[in-house]
Amino acid sequence: MQRTFAIIKPDAVAAGHQGGILAALQEAGLRLVAIKSLRLSTAQAEGFYAVHSARPFFRSLVTFMTEGPVVAMVLEGEDAIARWRNLMGPTDATKAGKDTLRGRFGTSIERNATHGSDAPETAAYEIGFFFSGLELAGL
Ligand code: PPS
Repeated sequence: MQRTFAIIKPDAVAAGHQGGILAALQEAGLRLVAIKSLRLSTAQAEGFYAVHSARPFFRSLVTFMTEGPVVAMVLEGEDAIARWRNLMGPTDATKAGKDTLRGRFGTSIERNATHGSDAPETAAYEIGFFFSGLELAGL
């Protein structure tokens, strides 16, 4: 069993796609361990994306991720990290297939509907960034 961290980004929340995304992940056999809605502050978004701080798109990404509420989730299943990333599709939503979440709900390389951890270490860090031990206990 593996856990991964996922976000429904502000574009998909504003468009009301939470239900479609939750249905898709559950149909794919991923288990929802924890979920909450919140609005990131600029400092929180900068911290979460600190690894990308030198990239040209950093400021724009932080502005996008703070424009409205997001849904943060912990997903669990066998090979959950790769399975969630496959379900999301490629970063650039304009190149993502219509059988992927980004293809269905994203509109650009920035406004791409969902986030997913890329490795076990990243998943552990990102889960800890958004959720306390208490919120994950007993599940
Ligand atoms: S890389 O090269 O693999 O590190 O990049 P990638 O993992 O695809 O992207 C990292 C996050 O940056 C976002 N991103 C962008 N935002 C705005 N503009 C551009 N051009 C851009 N390129 C990448 C991308 O959506 C990733 O966000 P998360 O939340 O991690 O999915």
